[in-house]
Amino acid sequence: MGHAPWWQRGIVYQVYPRSFQDSNGDGVGDLKGILRRVDYFGWLGVDAVWLSPIYPSPMADFGYDVADYRGIEPVFGTLDDFSELVAALHGRGLKLILDLVPNHTSDRHPWFVASRSGRSDPKRDWYIWRDAAPDGGPPNNWLSTFGGSAWEWDAATGQYYYHAFAREQPDLNWRNPAVRRAVYDAMRFWLDRGVDGFRVDVMWHLLKDPAWRDNPPNPAYDGSQPEFQRLLEVNTTDQPDVHEIVAEMRALIDEYDDRVLIGEIYLPIERLVAYYGRDLAGAHLPFNFQLILTAWDAGRIAGLVERYEAALPAGAWPNWVLGNHDKPRFASRVGPAQARVAAMLLLTLRGTPTLYYGDEIGMRDVPIPPGMVHDPWEKNEPGMGFGRDPQRTPMQWDASALAGFTTGTPWLPLADDRAACNVEVLSDDAGSILALYRQLIELRRTSPALSLGTYRTVAAEGGVFAYERRYDGASMLVALNFGDQPDRRIELPPGDRPGRVLASTHGDRQGETVAGALTLRPDEGVIVSLTG
Ligand code: GLC
Repeated sequence: MGHAPWWQRGIVYQVYPRSFQDSNGDGVGDLKGILRRVDYFGWLGVDAVWLSPIYPSPMADFGYDVADYRGIEPVFGTLDDFSELVAALHGRGLKLILDLVPNHTSDRHPWFVASRSGRSDPKRDWYIWRDAAPDGGPPNNWLSTFGGSAWEWDAATGQYYYHAFAREQPDLNWRNPAVRRAVYDAMRFWLDRGVDGFRVDVMWHLLKDPAWRDNPPNPAYDGSQPEFQRLLEVNTTDQPDVHEIVAEMRALIDEYDDRVLIGEIYLPIERLVAYYGRDLAGAHLPFNFQLILTAWDAGRIAGLVERYEAALPAGAWPNWVLGNHDKPRFASRVGPAQARVAAMLLLTLRGTPTLYYGDEIGMRDVPIPPGMVHDPWEKNEPGMGFGRDPQRTPMQWDASALAGFTTGTPWLPLADDRAACNVEVLSDDAGSILALYRQLIELRRTSPALSLGTYRTVAAEGGVFAYERRYDGASMLVALNFGDQPDRRIELPPGDRPGRVLASTHGDRQGETVAGALTLRPDEGVIVSLTG
């Protein structure tokens, strides 16, 4: 157990800084706020904290539009606050992972300001500028993820620039070595300040087709998906040479001890795993979002786990993500009872789990009245359900009117259920989802079978998914009832000793002896030690 690096053994917890804890009453979370809550991470039992972007930003995409790769956004605090946070986390044995947003900058970044100042500016080629098509329209049919053309006309210099996201987020030209050097220098800036790694934003987007070919139509598009899915993104993402860049980033990370490179990549499993890189010299953890994207059905999830396990290159370490700031909250999708089953799944699968803040207290999507919408995606494609504000609402710390998040007006509305659903109330309730999360995290931390062991499917039928994790003679069985059907029975793998229940999502059964078979109640997940 001693030899596995922390990012394999550990659990990652994502903080969305705007929404975690406000310290100065402006309604927006900040670094001093996170500092105030630093003991919470240890109490919960996680190992690493990943912060969504804290760099100076005009907030067109809430920090994912970076105006300076080496500073701290004043709303969040100062570099001194940052150093204090690093020290506080490290002092408690916790790691800090920063978001790195290399694909694009803010249109206010000095690099882009220079680039758009004239065609002969030395930074012109740091971004993606193209002439108009013969009819004066955009150079090709590429679409922005947030809707509409990905090309924005710049009248002053008479060319279009490319933006995969909002028009305030021009894409950098990663084919230009000067761009690479500049971003790598920024990575060093933070690594030198003790940061333990990066989560690289839209890693699969970094390079685009050098011939600027149109994207082909997507035959599966039916109008219910976001507009950009009208086309297959074959010429705008996942280009073969992107792996060179990932390998360069990894080589840089490896100049430092014990750091981690995580990639945000939305691709089917077979293409996702290529981001581990040739000879595993790519990302340590290409984020695996498949649990979020797969129907919540025992057979489907079992099939997914098997496909992923089979697709992993030899020696690659798996990972699983249940939620993030871009996707609806899991508890909203599957309901409170199955949210507990999902917690057990996430924390017992083979691979580093990533938790999204608030999921541990069962936070749900909060409806956002039209006048309070912040997310640029919702503004561009209103009413379609693509908006991401509902899953970004303030953390619920206690039962007070503002949930302990702020003393001012929260930037997004607080959830209606905050009086019951908050850290303080749930931490006093042994049957709460928070208590379950803590118990599961503790079990994972103390059980090499759960954190590092092998994986084997035991059953995937009748609405039940069961699997075994083994390490050095220790064996754990996890059995999950994905529905509300009672008395789901599964046969235990043959063994000479009866099993002992370590945890149930229902909070009881601990210490129960099971022999031969195990019966699950509705919505129940159980962990059984098969080796005493
Ligand atoms: C990533 C981020 C998302 C952001 C986008 C553009 O997908 O997670 O929040 O809008 O990149 O930076």
